[in-house]
Amino acid sequence: MVSKKFSMRAAAAGVAVLALGLSACSSGGDDDNTADPGSSSSEGSGGGDTISVGFSQVGSESGWRAANTKSIQESLTKENGFDLKFSDAQQKQENQIQAIRSYIAQGVKYIAFSPVVETGWDAVLQEAKAANIPVILTDRAVDTQDKTLYKTFIGSDFVEEGKRIGEWVNENVATEPINVVELQGTTGSAPAIDRKQGFEDATKSNTNVKIIASQTGDFTRDGGKKVMEGFLQANPDIDLVYAHNDDMALGAIEAIEAAGKVPGKDIKIVSIDGVKDGMQALADGKINYIVECNPLLGPDLADIIKTLDSGGTVEPRIVTHDDAFDQAAAKEALPTRQY
Ligand code: AHR
Repeated sequence: MVSKKFSMRAAAAGVAVLALGLSACSSGGDDDNTADPGSSSSEGSGGGDTISVGFSQVGSESGWRAANTKSIQESLTKENGFDLKFSDAQQKQENQIQAIRSYIAQGVKYIAFSPVVETGWDAVLQEAKAANIPVILTDRAVDTQDKTLYKTFIGSDFVEEGKRIGEWVNENVATEPINVVELQGTTGSAPAIDRKQGFEDATKSNTNVKIIASQTGDFTRDGGKKVMEGFLQANPDIDLVYAHNDDMALGAIEAIEAAGKVPGKDIKIVSIDGVKDGMQALADGKINYIVECNPLLGPDLADIIKTLDSGGTVEPRIVTHDDAFDQAAAKEALPTRQY
């Protein structure tokens, strides 16, 4: 059984966690995983006595995603008893559905995926269930009434992340009236919906907080920069940027500097993720506060699959541990930051 506490510790430390009873461990050959769009390993579904797993990744939109992909690929290796088939959906739901159908057709033993958006998964998940292939959700949730369509969902509490940002803003910036612009993540994705919700919940009773504009930057640096340029042109009095991830915050920094203003001072910036580039900008004073979203889900995913494969059970929801950093804490954390 993967206990919630155990998983939280594991994700925080970012270490391999294979201390539980494992039924299908064997040595494997070279790691032939690939991250190309729509690709899969060249082997069939069998892979000897390894456990075949089809993983459909959202895309490669951010530093967070790169760290997450690395963690998955470094954990589900042949040496660790897995035959991983990995595909990158390029932020398109149709690509993910196609990848999942292909994994079903190949007869993999487990399917794991991080759903780009929340809705529209029931049909393909029914197909996996009909084929007796357990599904594990990593990082992002699906919106479905039928909770039997997946075994567990492991990842951060995105509402809580937005709430922590909002609470910090209340205490540290919104002690006087402020105009806030929001750079939203991918439209329809769980982190975009939940981080917006969490921030609004935390700030709704603070009459000093006024959200004057909110638009998606699709979790990319380029998207954050372009949307911020538009915000700056339309609104001369922006006090704070709430970016749903570090990459969009980094894009916003470029736009703010190009407009002749000082990020972190003239316009304060708060964001979520805690990737190295974001933490560096925080340490440099260009971002003011970051709530972490831990991408190192690979060790726990491997652990979950091995637990299920040995006949064990897992909690339906496993929440990973996230820290938070101000500028001083970022300086301290940077030298040992893993991603
Ligand atoms: O789902 C997690 C989010 O997806 C990360 O916060 C963001 O950087 C990524 O694109």
